[in-house]
Amino acid sequence: MVGDAVVRARLRAPDVTIDLDLEPTRVEGRRQQLERAIVNVLDNACKWSPAGAPVEVGLRDGTITVRDHGAGIDPEDLPHVFDRFYRAPAARSLPGSGLGLAIVHKVVDGHGGTVVLESALGGGTSASIRLPTAGGEYSPFGPADDGGPHDRRHEADTPVT
Ligand SMILES: Nc1ncnc2c1ncn2[C@@H]1O[C@H](COP(=O)(O)OP(=O)(O)O)[C@@H](O)[C@H]1O
Ligand SMILES: [Mg+2]
Repeated sequence: MVGDAVVRARLRAPDVTIDLDLEPTRVEGRRQQLERAIVNVLDNACKWSPAGAPVEVGLRDGTITVRDHGAGIDPEDLPHVFDRFYRAPAARSLPGSGLGLAIVHKVVDGHGGTVVLESALGGGTSASIRLPTAGGEYSPFGPADDGGPHDRRHEADTPVT
């Protein structure tokens, strides 16, 4: 699934090199929503990447990281990037609606996960989406097989690679 998102991001930003380091991870959830969230983060990384700088995508243990070598995010803007329609002053000359990360936050939150944006070591931005892995000890959905409101057996397991 991360691979599919990368294919879509590459189509939209053919000049950006996207490097992958993916390990198979299984998470449970809505594939379309999760893929949309990953594409939104990838689109941002590509949009802010200077010519020739790669976007690095990692996947391990339910956590997807997308790192770029762009200008980074002003610490003053960081608390607002998940707000709907928020666009940092530096972003206003670039295309976008300010909705991308708000959608990411909503989707990831809805899957019991977390999303964090931070300045990357050595410059640029690092975005991490952490999702609960399926089949592990921890389940954000409560008992999975009690037939109650938290029973999510009807949602197919989604291998994320
Ligand atoms: N990789 C990034 N590098 C620098 N700034 C970023 C990055 N990702 C997000 N941002 C900042 O967060 C804001 C919100 O992102 P988003 O919701 O995707 O809106 P949009 O991409 O439409 O501007 C952006 O306008 C930008 O200021
Ligand atoms: Mg965006």
